[in-house]
Amino acid sequence: MLIFNQGKYKSLLAAKLGELEKVIKRVQADHHFRPSYHLTAPSGLINDPNGLVFDGEKYHIFYQWYPYDAIHGMKHWLHYTSPDLQTFTLAEPLIPTEMFESHGCYSGGALSLEEHVVAFYTGNTRRSSDNQRIPYQNIAIFNKTGKLLEKYPLVTCIPTGYTEHVRDPKPYLTDEGKVRFICGAQRSDLSGTAIIFEMDNINTPPQLLGELTLSDFNNAAIFMWECPDLLKIGDKDLFIWSPQGKAREAYQFQNNYHATYAIGQLTHLYFEVESFNEMDYGFDFYAPQTFAGLDNTQHAVMLGWVGLPDLQYPTDEYGWHSTLTMPRYLRLYNNHIYQQPLPQYYPQTLTTQIIQDQLELEQLDEIFLRFDAEQQDFQLQLFSNQQDQHLTIYYQDGIFCLDRHATEQTDSMLALGEQRYCKVAHLQCVEIFIDRSVIEIFLNHGEKVLTSRFFIKNRQNYIKVSRPLQIHSAAVAPIKYQPNQ
Ligand code: FRU
Repeated sequence: MLIFNQGKYKSLLAAKLGELEKVIKRVQADHHFRPSYHLTAPSGLINDPNGLVFDGEKYHIFYQWYPYDAIHGMKHWLHYTSPDLQTFTLAEPLIPTEMFESHGCYSGGALSLEEHVVAFYTGNTRRSSDNQRIPYQNIAIFNKTGKLLEKYPLVTCIPTGYTEHVRDPKPYLTDEGKVRFICGAQRSDLSGTAIIFEMDNINTPPQLLGELTLSDFNNAAIFMWECPDLLKIGDKDLFIWSPQGKAREAYQFQNNYHATYAIGQLTHLYFEVESFNEMDYGFDFYAPQTFAGLDNTQHAVMLGWVGLPDLQYPTDEYGWHSTLTMPRYLRLYNNHIYQQPLPQYYPQTLTTQIIQDQLELEQLDEIFLRFDAEQQDFQLQLFSNQQDQHLTIYYQDGIFCLDRHATEQTDSMLALGEQRYCKVAHLQCVEIFIDRSVIEIFLNHGEKVLTSRFFIKNRQNYIKVSRPLQIHSAAVAPIKYQPNQ
């Protein structure tokens, strides 16, 4: 076992006495922005959800984690188990301790196989002679209580025809019971793609089958596909991934990078695309992953990263960065994904009020709001404080907008624009979940979703409306964290 400690490539095992406690103290000094019902790291930086799997009794949730600061340093997988996705018990994390993961345990997925949770992940390494990145695709085997039993490399070289950017293995089982895993990759000509490996079973060496071919997707400017995820819902195949390099547009693909999906029919490695869309229209959403191991074939459960690469947030100064989304159900209707939080995240009893002009709503910053827009324009202004900061949401002429121009923003946030739009021809049901610095908005029962961070200190819990609205609301119950048992 090695204890890596080279600048930001520092493992948890290299922590000096009291060092992490110091970072946690910094985090606890944040009395403004820490969410109560979104999974948030005890300290440091979260990015992609990883290794999501239901083992028959409980869920395993991992995520990319750098413990020491709000930067992308040495990546670990922090690990929780949960019976209901509301109470989370710490389990053994994946810590880089071997040469085949010397510069971080990068993203991947997991399967529940017999008595084990088998996680596939990318070992990020850098050759010491010339700092060349070399990705390994590795396996880590946990028992169901969350204890790490062993880990070892599966793929130790870059397949011919691809660059150093091959990562994020997401495993799945074929109808014949073989194990396949799909990785995001960059071809030698610097275009993005995904490649699929197959193993007869978990103990046999993987064979590269080839690339996933999409019948219809404009890959022109795309230099990398990250976090690919292949699954089935009902009789449709679904491919979710995060292509990098797509040009930004006015009403979609508005961020620096995007998460997208294709619905269609997969035959061997050929995906006949019937529809293609962006997953989420908010400021901060990337690298979603669905749970393996669920019995129900009519929906999937997904978590996303409420964040994006290359962004700084105002909470970085408190030593923490990002959260995960609430777990979402994915359903298919008319070749479109509908996303909504799991039912247990909806408060059971709602209070109904007609807001004429403005109203103070206790706990507005950890609330669930629902109203019917009745296909008519409206504007909401939330949290107006004495510095004239506020968050604005409006719907006008078939366009829904989240506007954070009057909130605290870092330069990297500002550089990507202060409004996010999406087209919704007939807007009826609006559902808004607010959690201190996170907002998830679900339109028309999840037909369109906007996930974002926003930062307003000294918030006033006022909601101002441009026309009378009947609003149903209630506080959302916080999630619970339990220490390792
Ligand atoms: C996506 C990503 C993955 C990679 C991980 C590293 O956000 O870049 O491709 O495995 O983050 O933290």
